[in-house]
Amino acid sequence: MALLEQLFFSFTIIIISFVACYETLQEDPLNINVHDSPFIDDGGTLFKNLIKQSTNVLSSNSFEKRESIKKVNVNDYGAKGNGDTDDSEAFKKAWDVVCSSGEAILWVPEENYLLKPIRFSGPCKPNIEVQILGTIEASDDPSDYEEDSRHWLVFDHIKKLFVYGGGTIDGNGKIWWKNSCKRNKKKPCKDAPTALTFDNCEDLIVENLSIENAQQIHVSFQDSENVKVSGLNVTAPEDSPNTDGIHVTNTQNIQISDSVIGTGDDCISIVHGSKNVEATNITCGPGHGISIGSLGAGESKEIVSGILVNGAKIFGTKNGVRIKTWQGGSGSASDIQFQNIEMENVTNPIIINQNYCDKKKKPCKKGKSAIQIKNVWYQNITGTSASDIAVKFDCSEKFPCQEITLQNIDLECEGGDDAEAWCKNVELSYFGYVKPRCNSEKRNASTNIITSIWKYFSWLT
Ligand SMILES: *[C@@H]1O[C@H](CO)[C@@H](O)[C@H](O)[C@H]1NC(C)=O
Ligand SMILES: *[C@@H]1O[C@H](CO)[C@@H](O)[C@H](O)[C@H]1NC(C)=O
Ligand SMILES: *[C@@H]1O[C@H](CO)[C@@H](O)[C@H](O)[C@H]1NC(C)=O
Ligand SMILES: *[C@@H]1O[C@H](CO)[C@@H](O)[C@H](O)[C@H]1NC(C)=O
Ligand SMILES: *[C@@H]1O[C@H](CO)[C@@H](O)[C@H](O)[C@H]1NC(C)=O
Ligand SMILES: *[C@@H]1O[C@H](CO)[C@@H](O)[C@H](O)[C@H]1NC(C)=O
Repeated sequence: MALLEQLFFSFTIIIISFVACYETLQEDPLNINVHDSPFIDDGGTLFKNLIKQSTNVLSSNSFEKRESIKKVNVNDYGAKGNGDTDDSEAFKKAWDVVCSSGEAILWVPEENYLLKPIRFSGPCKPNIEVQILGTIEASDDPSDYEEDSRHWLVFDHIKKLFVYGGGTIDGNGKIWWKNSCKRNKKKPCKDAPTALTFDNCEDLIVENLSIENAQQIHVSFQDSENVKVSGLNVTAPEDSPNTDGIHVTNTQNIQISDSVIGTGDDCISIVHGSKNVEATNITCGPGHGISIGSLGAGESKEIVSGILVNGAKIFGTKNGVRIKTWQGGSGSASDIQFQNIEMENVTNPIIINQNYCDKKKKPCKKGKSAIQIKNVWYQNITGTSASDIAVKFDCSEKFPCQEITLQNIDLECEGGDDAEAWCKNVELSYFGYVKPRCNSEKRNASTNIITSIWKYFSWLT
């Protein structure tokens, strides 16, 4: 095997000179290590084993005794639901009852409630539900957020929580967008509240809710485990700054499905400490697409692994599926699979950026280290690119992207012209039909056999 690998490397490390799309990038030597294979894989048994979702056990039915469950109506605790009076105290009182009795529903009728920042904290007695039929709107007075400027609604330290109901959560974010440094260069860069946060929750289901116009992030899952999210409708204007749809941080075993997300930033962002994240049947646009990262800001060590995005329609976004890391960080983003994705007029449909820099926040230095990006599969990705570059791998010179695989990729420009791939410092494999490719014409046919054998053995081990 070692000999074989040596053989493989000596045959396949091909340095390909590059016909640059951007002049500024022309001086860089571009190391593209391409191998090709006639084998068509089965579509990722590799990952099926890897992403073992214990969330499969979770379902609405696992919240038993739904008939006999105690309903705690916020109106009975003084909520007015007129969209004008602050209902925070009533919600707190009702929550205390629900949490301390267990087997209970915090019931929010079909009216319009106004809330200041509020924490629904556990630990609670088991089987807590929150049924939102009406609308919950955020106070838009920044002075209400002085105690905690980063959160509006928070559910924390709760085991077995089920939030659902078809209602709406409205972050009323205009005032924060207006004061964002991305909108107004004279304003300082400060983070605004996340509309809905689930922090330290375990066995959590969030189903059938509309979340709109968040102050910043719409829904954040953090430090949680075994989470199932479905039927969310997340909307904010395309020009609202930093309004990520669903943000996943340090959360393991999370399934996000059947959701429609259109905001001013990432539809889904997956960051540090997240493992076994599955997103299926996601409609995304407008916004910045589905993103892993950013990782490694401020030279931090960050790890993300076991991500599966299967089934998405992404339209009119800045990116399609993206992995972005800052220079100078360490750790890894590995075992990632993007499959069955339809792109429509997406500026960067497939992109890895290991040189990410949000210059509006702080200037970026060239880093000595990088987050290692490894084992990323792109399968069945079709559609159109709004730019000429449909595939872009901008990887680090010292820490090239490893084991990147493209299989059944068919991307063209929005007008129907051929799109291009821009590739730098990436070890790449192709399976099946792949268009566009990174300068594929330079490959040496005789290397392919060796590559195939190597690939075959690497699967067996
Ligand atoms: C890719 O698409 C083909 C044809 O629709 C399908 O048979 C195959 O299972 C898909 N691959 C994956 C990884 O889903
Ligand atoms: C969520 O919506 C779907 C589709 O309308 C419905 O089948 C399901 O029962 C709803 N779930 C809950 C918990 O209300
Ligand atoms: C999602 O929310 C938007 C804005 O509130 C609304 O216009 C749209 O109809 C909703 N879509 C679904 C599928 O519920
Ligand atoms: C995908 O999600 C949408 C709502 O977001 C839903 O209407 C549709 O039924 C889902 N498709 C499948 C195959 O589950
Ligand atoms: C595609 O996107 C570009 C910019 O992102 C936009 O200018 C153009 O109008 C879009 N084209 C279509 C057909 O939607
Ligand atoms: C391709 O590989 C063969 C055998 O290793 C070698 O003889 C030939 O020169 C190579 N061709 C190119 C274009 O590198």
